[in-house]
Amino acid sequence: MLKITEASPTAGLALSWRDFIPQIFSRNPKHSLEQKIADFIGVDEVQIECSGTAALVVALEAIKTLSDRKYVVISAYTCPWVALAVLKANLIPVLADSRPGHFDFCESALKTVVNNETLAVVHTHLAGRVADVQKTIAIARNVGAFVIEDAAQSMGAHLNDKAVGRFGDIGFFSLGVGKGLTIFAGGCVVSENPMLREALRRTSGALPSKRFLEARRIVELAGYYMLYRPVGMGLAFGHHLRRKLKRGNLIQAVGDDCSFTFPLHQVGAWRKFVGANAANRLPSFIGQTKLLAENRLKQLKKIPNVQVMHDIVGGEGVWPFFILLMPTEVVRDAVLKQLWNKGLGVGRLFIHALKDYGYLTPYFLEANIPNAQAFASKTLIVTNCVWLSERDFAKICDVISEQVSHV
Ligand SMILES: Cc1ncc(COP(=O)(O)O)c(C=O)c1O
Repeated sequence: MLKITEASPTAGLALSWRDFIPQIFSRNPKHSLEQKIADFIGVDEVQIECSGTAALVVALEAIKTLSDRKYVVISAYTCPWVALAVLKANLIPVLADSRPGHFDFCESALKTVVNNETLAVVHTHLAGRVADVQKTIAIARNVGAFVIEDAAQSMGAHLNDKAVGRFGDIGFFSLGVGKGLTIFAGGCVVSENPMLREALRRTSGALPSKRFLEARRIVELAGYYMLYRPVGMGLAFGHHLRRKLKRGNLIQAVGDDCSFTFPLHQVGAWRKFVGANAANRLPSFIGQTKLLAENRLKQLKKIPNVQVMHDIVGGEGVWPFFILLMPTEVVRDAVLKQLWNKGLGVGRLFIHALKDYGYLTPYFLEANIPNAQAFASKTLIVTNCVWLSERDFAKICDVISEQVSHV
């Protein structure tokens, strides 16, 4: 079924045709994508990579030049690309379980898995939510490990007025499709430590240019411009989603069918120009989605027995979508049965905790992560898409309320 209009699963910044006009007369570095993101985050320098995953690989390769340690601790409930990035850097990923009912690290679980062989701990702020990075830093520092902040889904989020991504030794963000700011596939990495910055520059500078892949990405970015709108989403996204749901392939439906081979290359000037133009609208877009979220959160919070993920005290996150923790897996699945294929932006984030993806299981045979597994089994996401009508949002809340009332 091809729907006429469809909500996007996350609130991403749409492109304008004007974004594609390069500022050929302006080679002013102040107008570069790097500088615009740096200003937005509040750092001196940002390095653009070809994906968030690539940004993490670059970060890991950079710190490898400073330490012989081999183990990298990651969240048990996060994007599978994180584990693949660690493996790509020839390091050993170790899972730390989440705290009950959350995606953030469980303090005691994290303390159990870190030791003086831990190279780094990757701390994650999922879904725009600000997680307790200070706690992670304290635990990592205790064993002399680096902290890499994964803010792939959280560009623009702050903790005590400082942008997330600036707390750890290194931070990275995704500029992939569906993120606030996108160049179709991209990422960026930041550090305020001069030695790490130099190591990041060296590592990234050694990556090859791939002209054909870059040309393909330009076409894909143009496709994003044309289709990232209410009438395009059905064709670009919803149609494929419904086909995969019909076949029962949930991992493909959410794009968790990640691959061990992924590109690492330089990002071309054209895509950076487009991103730099779009970045001018990022602050106001984030403001707009925050206002929308305030109203939508009020409705979600009225539903009994449903927990909406929020920020820690002092955190002010961004709102691409909402994560809802449902009372049981059965209720979660009943809601999804009614809404996932309706083009309303309701679905799932990651299908499993990391060790339960077949392609990752062999790396985590010993991992004990019951909280992350429970979180994966009881959560769903609701979009904060700007073109989803408030009437449709209320409809979503009604379906959730109705299903929860059977508990
Ligand atoms: C938490 C998290 N980390 C890392 C990544 C990898 O980013 P990218 O898709 O840009 O490679 C993602 C992707 O969505 C993510 O959600």
